[in-house]
Amino acid sequence: MARSVVLMSGLIGVGLAIPIVGSFVPSGNLGKGSWAPLDAAEWQTLQTTTTKPVKISFLLKSKDAYLPEQVSHEYVWGIKVAPAKFQAVRPDLFVKGGPASVGYPPINLGFVLFSPICPHLGCRYNWDGPSNKFLCPCHGSVYTLLGEHIAGPAPRGLDPLPLKEQNGTAEVTWIHYETMTPDRIIISYQ
Ligand code: FES
Repeated sequence: MARSVVLMSGLIGVGLAIPIVGSFVPSGNLGKGSWAPLDAAEWQTLQTTTTKPVKISFLLKSKDAYLPEQVSHEYVWGIKVAPAKFQAVRPDLFVKGGPASVGYPPINLGFVLFSPICPHLGCRYNWDGPSNKFLCPCHGSVYTLLGEHIAGPAPRGLDPLPLKEQNGTAEVTWIHYETMTPDRIIISYQ
């Protein structure tokens, strides 16, 4: 059954002449995280955008023991990059069991989704087209397109989030990581 789903995905991709990636679901432990569908049009834009990031929105649903389900608008930064290149510039993410690694594949068949939260103190950083860098307005941390930290007080590079794609539909799991530490420590899924 799984093989036939993957085959169908490939046939549909060829038919539409869109470079849709194959199906892939991260196998790592995502804890309490749940999957949220990414905006379809913005996800399609990412398929053909190779030199700059694409802001991709989604609805984040959260719930605790006392309140009804809350829904908020969130976004991630999507990057299209060759897996080997990404691994070469962000090796800390790929050290199995390492303190800065993540418990899921940080890149999915050529796509990375970065959390929009700056690892310094949690501000939202932005893409600056003229410099081709991500800039944080709060204390001046600077990151490359692939999330390398190159200036400012941030203790690590940008944090990738889990991505899965099936039959042309992409989903993300939101994870809030601890700031002010070189390690990637999960704080919450909200
Ligand atoms: S919160 Fe981004 S540099 Fe301080």
